[in-house]
Amino acid sequence: MKIQVINGPNLNLLGVREKDIYGTVNLGEIEAEIARLAEQLKCQVRFFQSNHEGEIIDCIHACRSQVDGILINPAAFTHYSYAIRDALAAVELPVVEVHMSNIYQRELFRHQSVTAPVCRGQIAGFGVDSYLLGLRGLVNIINGL
Ligand code: DQA
Repeated sequence: MKIQVINGPNLNLLGVREKDIYGTVNLGEIEAEIARLAEQLKCQVRFFQSNHEGEIIDCIHACRSQVDGILINPAAFTHYSYAIRDALAAVELPVVEVHMSNIYQRELFRHQSVTAPVCRGQIAGFGVDSYLLGLRGLVNIINGL
């Protein structure tokens, strides 16, 4: 089983960026934790991060016939990128959306996710655990559980 993990804009700055909201763990450390869990769950993970909408869309398209599911934190694109939403819908793969913070507890503009409706589920507010819970959920979905 192969899973593509995608992180959107500014997540390369995790660990230095708004630490009160996102904590002190950096993206490399998060990816290492995901890789550790993936090994336990017997799936292969590959990672992609970009600050550019088009690159994220290209990565989603490349997932077609290459992976079994997508774990994505679209970051700010969550709230307004119809293009990423359409790309996720187009590839017809199970997708789980994750957020480190509880977006529903924050500014009003973060309360809407335009991408969640084309995802199988969304996990928000658990910090690094959002990724790990999301991976477990995605693997179960792919396994038909
Ligand atoms: C985020 C929440 C978004 O609103 C924000 O733009 C991010 C990170 C999260 O992981 O909590 O960049 O996706």
